[in-house]
Amino acid sequence: MADLLTPDYYEYEWVPLESVSLMPSGGALLIWPDGQSLECHPLWLRENSPGPEGIDPRSKENDLDVAKLDLDIRLGVAFVEDGALVVEFHPEGRRASFHPGWLRHVADGQHQPFALLPDPQIWKSQDLPEPPTHEGPLVLQDDAALAKWLNDLLEFGLARLVSLPTDAGVVELVGRRIGVLRDSNFGLTWHVSVDLDPNSTANTDVRLPAHSDLPSRETPPGFQLLHCQENTVAGGHSTMTDGLAVVQHLEQNEPEVLQSLLKSEWIFFNRDEEHDHRWTGPIIDRGDGRVPWTFRAFHPVRGFPAMPQEEIGDAYFAIQRFGHVANSDDFQIRYELHPGDLIAFDNRRVLHGRESFDSTEGTRQLRGTYMDSDEVYSRMRVLHHSVPGLQHSLAFSVARKDSNA
Ligand code: OGA
Ligand code: ZN
Repeated sequence: MADLLTPDYYEYEWVPLESVSLMPSGGALLIWPDGQSLECHPLWLRENSPGPEGIDPRSKENDLDVAKLDLDIRLGVAFVEDGALVVEFHPEGRRASFHPGWLRHVADGQHQPFALLPDPQIWKSQDLPEPPTHEGPLVLQDDAALAKWLNDLLEFGLARLVSLPTDAGVVELVGRRIGVLRDSNFGLTWHVSVDLDPNSTANTDVRLPAHSDLPSRETPPGFQLLHCQENTVAGGHSTMTDGLAVVQHLEQNEPEVLQSLLKSEWIFFNRDEEHDHRWTGPIIDRGDGRVPWTFRAFHPVRGFPAMPQEEIGDAYFAIQRFGHVANSDDFQIRYELHPGDLIAFDNRRVLHGRESFDSTEGTRQLRGTYMDSDEVYSRMRVLHHSVPGLQHSLAFSVARKDSNA
C-alpha cells in the first residue's frame, strides 16, 4: 500500500484515515483521527486515480482527456483499507486506492502555491540593519545551507552571501543552484560598472535611489542577484528598502498618496538601438491581491503619464512622497558590498539602490543576473521535501531570531 502512486515526485508519510463516508454529491468525506477532514469531489478523484486514463505512472500526470470524462461519475463504494482510501467509481466500475498522506497534504493546504514558502516579514531599518548573511561556499555545496539562505530571501526579500570567489562566472553558478536564469537585452548575466558609452543609468557613477529593475516589462524579473567582483572606489554604498513597509506607512499616514500610487498608470520604456521595451502600470501593482506585489519605480525608464491630465500633478506628488519615504533612514538600510559578496533580492518587493561614487579613483565592478520568482519558489519547495529536518531547523532559526530581538 505504501507505494501507492501519487501525481508527483514526493514521498508522503503514511497518515492513515479513520473513516470515509459517501456524500449526497457522489463524493466522499474523509476523516483523520485528529479531526482533520477533506471533502473529495468524485470527478477530481477520478482524474487523480492511478492507472490508465488517470495518473500515468511514467509522467505522474493525469492523461485523461477531460472531453472523455463522464460527468455523471459518482462513488459507488468508498472504504478505508490499511489507512488508505479505496473507492469504486459508478457506473464505470473502476476501483482506485489513494495514498492517505497525499490526501492529507491536500486537507492541510500543503498543495497551495505559497504553502511551503515563508510568510513575508515586513521590515524597517531598525528591524533589519544588515541583510541576513550566509556563507557563500557552503550554500554552493550544501542543500540545507541553500534552503536557509532562500528562506531568508523569501521572508525578508533579501539575503546576502559572503566569502565567494570574485571571478565573473560566480553569479551564474549561484543562480544555477536555484534554477534557470532569466535572459534580457542586457544578457544572461550583465556587468554593473562605469561605461564610457552606457545604455543604462546603472552603468554610470551616479546615485541610484530606491528602485526596481525592468519596470518596462509586462512581468519585471522576480529576483535579482548582484555579485561584487571588485570595489575600490570611495562611496557607492548599497541600499535596500522593503516596499511593503513603505506601503504600510503610507496606508497609515498618507492614504491619498497610496491611492494615487495604486491607481495612476505610467508608461515605462527601456530602449537602445536594438530594443524598444514598453509596459504600462501603476507604481504599485497589487496584481490580483496575492503576493507578490510589483513595485514599478525607476525614473530613468518612466516615460509618460498614462492617466487623465488632471491626475498628473497628484501622481508626481505621490511618487515624490513614495521616494521620500523609501529613501529615508527609517526605511532604507545602507551597507558596503565587498569583493566576494553577493546580494540576492526580490526585485518586485524590495527597492534597491546605491550611493554615487568617485570613479576617478578605483574600480567598482559588479555582475548581475535576473531570475523569475517561479524558480526561487520551486527550489524552496523541492528543498522542503529533500532536506531532512528542514522544517524543524527553520523553525529553530526563527525562534533564535525572536530571542535575539
Ligand atoms: C542596477 C543597480 C546597483 C549597484 O544595476 O540596476 O541597481 O550597486 N545597481 O550598482
Ligand atoms: Zn537596479
